[in-house]
Order: sequence, then C-alpha cells, then structure tokens
Amino acid sequence: MTAPKIIRTLAELRTEIARWKAAGETIGVVPTMGALHQGHLSLVRAAKEGCDRVIVTIFINPKQFNNPEDYENYPRTEEDDARKLTPLAVDVVYVPDGTQIYPDGFATTVSVDGITDGLCGAHRPGHFDGVATVVTKLFTQSQADRAYFGEKDYQQLQVVTRLARDLDLGVEVIGCPTIREEDGLAMSSRNLHLSDRARTWAPELNRAMEEMAEGLRGGGDMATLRAEAIARIERAGFTEVEYLDLRAADTLELMGSLDRPARLLAAAWLAGVRLIDNIAVN
Ligand code: PAF
Repeated sequence: MTAPKIIRTLAELRTEIARWKAAGETIGVVPTMGALHQGHLSLVRAAKEGCDRVIVTIFINPKQFNNPEDYENYPRTEEDDARKLTPLAVDVVYVPDGTQIYPDGFATTVSVDGITDGLCGAHRPGHFDGVATVVTKLFTQSQADRAYFGEKDYQQLQVVTRLARDLDLGVEVIGCPTIREEDGLAMSSRNLHLSDRARTWAPELNRAMEEMAEGLRGGGDMATLRAEAIARIERAGFTEVEYLDLRAADTLELMGSLDRPARLLAAAWLAGVRLIDNIAVN
C-alpha cells in the first residue's frame, strides 16, 4: 500500500486531470474538511465503485464558519487523514491552501435561495453561501463527473444538488447514507470535541428523534411528540435544541403532518458542541 498522492496546487491538479480526461476516464470527487471518519470513508468507497478516478479534497473553508473560534478550533489532522485514505487507494488527495481557492481579489459568492432559509441556514448566517461558493470551486477545479456527500448534512446535500443543477456544472451529486456509531450517534468530525461524559449523552438526540418519528408514523400528534422529544433531549444534558423540524424530503418545506416523504431534522448543543442529525420519516 502506498500513501495517496497529495496535490497542493490547482496547476498540478489540472495536469493530472488532463491525463485522465484524455484517457476517457470518469472522475469522482469527495469534498471534505478533513478529520476523516468512517462516514467520509464510506463516501470514498462509493466514489471508488462509481468512478475510474477519485479525488478527495481537504480544505477547511473559512467562508462557511460563522464563528471565527469554531474555525480556529476545527480539527486539523492531515497526516492521520492521509493514513486513513491509504488502504482505499484514492488517486489524489487535493489539499489546497487558501490562495488556490480564494486568490487575491476573489469577489464572487454563490448563494442558493429557498432551501437555505430555515434549519442551519437560519441559525448559521452566511454558512450556506460559504458552502455553495467553495463547493462550486471544488466542482469546477476537479472537473468531476460525480460528487459524493453524506446525508448527515441533509440541508447541505440539497443545496449542492440544487446549485449543480442550476449552474449546469455537469456533475451528478450523489447522497450517501449517514454512518452511525453503534449507539446511534451520527459520525461527525465535531464528535472529537465531546468530553467522555458528553459522548455518553450524545446518542439521546438520535434516540429521541427515532421515537418521535415512530410516533408520527403511527399517526401521533406533531406538537405533542415534538415537545416530548425536546424534553427528552434536554433531560439528557443538551442545553439548547436549535430546531427539531419535520420537513419535506425534497424541498425542505416545513410540514404540519406526515402527508409526503419527509425528513426529521435537528440541531442541538451539548457541552459546547453543536450536533446535527436527520432521519427519513416516510
Ligand atoms: O461537509 C463538509 O465537510 C463541508 O461543508 C464541505 C462540503 C467539504 C464544504 O467545505
């Protein structure tokens, strides 16, 4: 097993891509901010199955952090990430510095309307503009045929799907299932910030959501089930539930009852760490 090839400049990436394109090979891209876990690795495996060549990008995008401290504290684990990618035999790990993505004078923002209004969009001002802008750059720089994103960030998945279509970027966005720890906690780079104690409480978010979803499927009253779920999450030690919404699976419109394929989505704070999760409720 050889370590993956690390590329840090766009010029070098373009040389590599030109060779692949000349040979008629398809390219898959897995955009990440590093601190890779099994969730990311499942995206890489899907990309390996679906494409001839696979690029994993690692770029901690300053534009999507609405809190500078959060950006500073975001885990930076490049060596470890390269080690985790070695057995998966990706073709390239693209680790651009800021100037490769946002060169001097960079003045463009990609902004997706509608689906960014609620949920994380409402609680993290500017976040999805930052995501949409960097993802557009990563799509055009990688010239990928397919791009792989986790359903864990469900609103993000809808945003990048929309922008790829709206801007005719020629990339097919593929959503892959959330990967969970054995106790149900959705894998996330942010879980690294949980203390040992907080880690034991964290799965209650998912358990409360599953219970609420079960109640909804059984025809239960939305307001009652929601109040019970929030109480359960707060009893577990979470300090604030930012949102716990039932939304249409495709448009993310708020739903008052279960009359279409839906998604239950939540964000909540536990010991200074913001956790998000979502599950299908059909
Ligand atoms: O999901 C993430 O890690 C990031 O939001 C992404 C898609 C890599 C853009 O920076």
